[in-house]
Amino acid sequence: MTEMNPALDRILTLELARVTERAAVAATHMRGKGNEKAADQLAVDAMRRELNALDIDGVVVIGEGERDKAPMLFIGEEVGTKNGPKVDIALDPLEGTTLCAKNKPNSLAVLAMAIGGTLLHAPDVYMNKIAIGGQYDADVIDLDDTPTQNLTRLAKAKGCAVSDLGVCILDRERHQDLIAEVRATGAAIMLIDDGDIAGVIATVDPEKTGVDIYIGVGGAPEGVLAAAALRCIGGHMQARLQTDSQSQKDRAAEMGVVDFDKKLSIRDMARGDVIFSATGVTDGDMLFGVRMKGNKIETETLVMRSTTGTVRRIIAEHYKLEKFAMD
Ligand code: FBP
Repeated sequence: MTEMNPALDRILTLELARVTERAAVAATHMRGKGNEKAADQLAVDAMRRELNALDIDGVVVIGEGERDKAPMLFIGEEVGTKNGPKVDIALDPLEGTTLCAKNKPNSLAVLAMAIGGTLLHAPDVYMNKIAIGGQYDADVIDLDDTPTQNLTRLAKAKGCAVSDLGVCILDRERHQDLIAEVRATGAAIMLIDDGDIAGVIATVDPEKTGVDIYIGVGGAPEGVLAAAALRCIGGHMQARLQTDSQSQKDRAAEMGVVDFDKKLSIRDMARGDVIFSATGVTDGDMLFGVRMKGNKIETETLVMRSTTGTVRRIIAEHYKLEKFAMD
């Protein structure tokens, strides 16, 4: 296995920003058009094209779905020129497809790349997650404790009342009991329609986002991407795959999952050096969305590396060349 060499790694950081920029710009053409599939397809096409131009020997470990359900960027698909390091790739070309289709905040193009064999290979199932920022000790949260216990410990660690905490939860029927319990503690809930990668990342900067903790069940692919982001930016997260049916267990087993009920740490999900890049599609708390400005297109990208902990925000102006505009 070729180790990711630091110099190459550094170059790849900017290359990955370009990949998510292109996916985000492509999806923008379907922003607010009510067609999730078409928006996603544009982002997938653009991301795949850009990945295949990179000098990497990459394999998609978290992708658009499993081979039989996803024609492109499926789990197991090989990408890149093969003239480069062996890398695992986790991607979500359009995180928050419905947000994009409805032109609501926080849809993103997201990608994480790590040294080959170091990202969790997870099927497209649900995952139970809990996350807080890196300013606390890891043992402040425990996925197996109740929300009340977690919020009580977090408030103590933060030196505030539980009612001063902000809790991000996906607005889903399955979270009714969770929402009721958190409300009973007095904490403020930020209910999000979609997009829990941004929900987890929001915990890193509670003063800006108002989110101290993320709790709830979302997609496993988004969980691995969020873990990759926290590896870079700092933070604590625990998660557990929800493999409820035998077919889900079989799919997970095929991908190398041995213990289905394991409480996963960030390093169980992203144990090697990792680069994470996200570009805003629609305006959001974390990133502004793609802006069309006359003959230019402006994008904002968050790109970070776990090796150095460097976090870059790249605001790029692209000339609206015919090719780029139609990607
Ligand atoms: P998509 O981009 O695939 O639509 O996912 C959006 C999302 O909200 C994720 O952020 C989240 O993890 C997942 O969907 C939750 O799944 P569900 O919508 O089935 O509750």
